[in-house]
Amino acid sequence: MIGQMYTPLCVCQRVDADCYDWHSSTMSNRPIYLVANWKMNGTAARARDWAFAVNEALSTHPTLTGVLCPPALYISDAKLGLPHNAGLKLGAQNCHEASNGAFTGEISAPMLADMGCTYVIVGHSECRAMGETDAQVEAKARAAIEAGLTPIICIGESREAYEKGETLAVLSAQLQGVAKLPGAAYLVAYEPIWAIGSSKTPELDEIQTVHRHIKSVLGSARGVLYGGSVKAGNIGKIVSLPDVSGALIGGASLEIESMCAMISETGALRGK
Ligand code: PGA
Repeated sequence: MIGQMYTPLCVCQRVDADCYDWHSSTMSNRPIYLVANWKMNGTAARARDWAFAVNEALSTHPTLTGVLCPPALYISDAKLGLPHNAGLKLGAQNCHEASNGAFTGEISAPMLADMGCTYVIVGHSECRAMGETDAQVEAKARAAIEAGLTPIICIGESREAYEKGETLAVLSAQLQGVAKLPGAAYLVAYEPIWAIGSSKTPELDEIQTVHRHIKSVLGSARGVLYGGSVKAGNIGKIVSLPDVSGALIGGASLEIESMCAMISETGALRGK
């Protein structure tokens, strides 16, 4: 239950073939991002092989932008699997807000850019759970933009907030710092904490309503991705929603076959 304090804006509570035609004209005009968040999984060999295979799969779907965010240690291995000017982009799962200094174990945004990354996830709920604050998330996003990276800024509500109908209030608070960021050089990922790794997702009309709300807070030009138990079988319906610009995918992005199935499902809906 997202909440009763607003009116659901989506007319598309059922996204199937009939309903999809209604959306297809606008869908084909906007970029769709498929971002793989490997979390603390994978190996050097898998990063290389995955990057090669997924880049090949993306080459037949030019309307999709794929981004691989492996553990930072494996970014250079992923690069080995990619040709020059590959369609698949590289990203990281976190960065520090400072550009360098005495921060043992940390990695800065300029270092990620130096390694060939063009994206970085910030504010993931698994980092927020370890104490990361909204102010730190804003500072990390700012550092990423200054380094020429596109931050993917994660926000999301707890199960308790969802059940109390407080989703939009929680998200609005998390967006306060984000709204101060310069330009259009960032993406937002709406990831309900209770949907991550749980095989549960909000209803499609709830996802659409939340995304419309985020765009109304930040300006309609912002790309807003959905994350939380995205997989082949539900990704097409989710990215068909009018205010969804793509997906942040955890568990289902690890295997090449599963990632390629999601690329085909999304690319087919978009008419390639
Ligand atoms: P999930 O994770 O797809 O495994 O639910 C998404 C995320 O945490 O980014």
